[in-house]
Amino acid sequence: MVIFMQEELNTLKEEALNLLESVDSLEKLDEIRIKFLGKKGKITSVLKSLGSVAPEERKTIGMAANEIRGKVEAIIEKKKEELKLKEIEQKMFNEKIDISITQNDARTYGHKHPLSIVIDDMKEIFLGMGYSIAEGPEIETTFFNFDALNAPIDHPSRDLQDTMYITEDIVLRTQTSSVQVRAMLDKKPPIKVISPGRVYRSDSVDATHSPMFHQVEGLVIDKHISMADLKGTLDIFAKKYFGPKTQIRFRPHHFPFTEPSCEVDVSCFVCGGKGCKTCKGEGWIEILGAGMVHPNVLKAGGIDPKEYQGFAFGMGVERIAMTKFGVSDLRYLYENDVRFLNQF
Ligand code: PHE
Repeated sequence: MVIFMQEELNTLKEEALNLLESVDSLEKLDEIRIKFLGKKGKITSVLKSLGSVAPEERKTIGMAANEIRGKVEAIIEKKKEELKLKEIEQKMFNEKIDISITQNDARTYGHKHPLSIVIDDMKEIFLGMGYSIAEGPEIETTFFNFDALNAPIDHPSRDLQDTMYITEDIVLRTQTSSVQVRAMLDKKPPIKVISPGRVYRSDSVDATHSPMFHQVEGLVIDKHISMADLKGTLDIFAKKYFGPKTQIRFRPHHFPFTEPSCEVDVSCFVCGGKGCKTCKGEGWIEILGAGMVHPNVLKAGGIDPKEYQGFAFGMGVERIAMTKFGVSDLRYLYENDVRFLNQF
């Protein structure tokens, strides 16, 4: 009996140790525990059957069985710790975020709108010539938009068809010239400012018209300012902006707020004046209106025309952007289609 039980115990021990050797999960480990040490486990059964063993042999068998139980228990505990640790490591490995992964949805960066490119380039040229930036509101009084600019109440530009009125004496400014008198009231001469911004006219949208567009105004007031200063300034601007070979041309014109007034063309920067698609065969491209500030405007700005003179000019930004970038339809500039905008 003893020999038989001893052998059985040895086989049990070997079986348990073998199984424990190759165990690779906590569930399997628990299965082994139940198989040998559970209520109906193999080792437990041996211990339970000790009662039927002859008393003199009980001690030997009991000790052997207890020793095996202790050993198996110890190994199970040790394996349990090992497997738990392994499980955590595995979990951490699976949850690891691979920060080295290459992104296929790589970020795309925006860039300046063509109108902003033109305005910023213009600003840079004039700031380089010592000008500063002046600002005025887009919602403007008829005083700054018309009266102070020597445009009397019956002037055609004051017609409802041309101007968007908010009330009888508040409009959406039709020109950045409205900043002229504001600048004069704001500081004493010498004044040397440019004022870029939006202007509004009661036009319907088509390839060359929009109820909102942009202008860059220029104003210089000082002693002994003449048309020669205007010409020199615009010549430098044209050469810097359109290229060193650019020529300028003054044509007589009329604005209520300048006297004399002119429109200014630049020689075509594509064909150099021979005539091409860009200049529509003219050789010249109209870029702005200008003139010597009218004495009435100086007076409205609190400046004595006998002491000071000045010149002013106003450029249409869209027109310049369209010729410079070869844009055939004004509407492209406002549609914000990235396929269009990405070209500049
Ligand atoms: N304000 C004029 C326009 O809208 C342009 C201009 C500005 C002309 C300054 C002369 C002097 O067309």
